[in-house]
Amino acid sequence: MDSLQEIAEQVKMCRQCRLCEGRTNAVPGIGNPQAEVVFIGEGPGKSEDELGMPFVGAAGKFLDKMLASIGWTRDDVFITNVVKCRPPENRDPLPDEIQACSQYLARQLVLLKPLIIATLGRHSMGIFFPDKKISEMHGKAIRTKGVNGPQVYLPLYHPAAALYNGGLQATLMADFQKIPQLLNQLKDTKQHA
Ligand code: URA
Ligand code: SF4
Repeated sequence: MDSLQEIAEQVKMCRQCRLCEGRTNAVPGIGNPQAEVVFIGEGPGKSEDELGMPFVGAAGKFLDKMLASIGWTRDDVFITNVVKCRPPENRDPLPDEIQACSQYLARQLVLLKPLIIATLGRHSMGIFFPDKKISEMHGKAIRTKGVNGPQVYLPLYHPAAALYNGGLQATLMADFQKIPQLLNQLKDTKQHA
């Protein structure tokens, strides 16, 4: 039986794409194994690579602030990335790197069975909705059927993009506020299914 810990161990030893060459630490992801909401970022940056943890730099502080704004902490959710190793100079992950790493995210999602998959930024949204535009999709819940019943994708802007853009920051914060109500609806639906 697969476990989140097992996946993390495999990620730390993984050499399935070129991103392994520049990493200090792989960043498998962290959080509550019972989480009902999973956040998926793009890939580790400098601080994340140094510490082996997701979203610990400036963008992470903003993510913490958004979580606090709905009364949550990191312990309530699970946080991971599309690619688990830092792309050099924080460049975008390449399609073959995303492809090579996708099995880890897929397995994490099978185990977590979240009610809400919140994608952060266009690369993260792009693995589920390759043809959509984030400017049109952000803040809109996309309902699907997961292995465990109802499941919703919620595309959000990336907190790093919002850091230096006040308008985007307000939009991201507003979209984020939809999470608790959306989650309650989903739990309700699940209960009465
Ligand atoms: N940006 C990301 O997309 N992921 C992180 O873990 C940190 C910053
Ligand atoms: Fe392996 Fe993913 Fe790291 Fe590439 S980015 S080496 S596929 S863990």
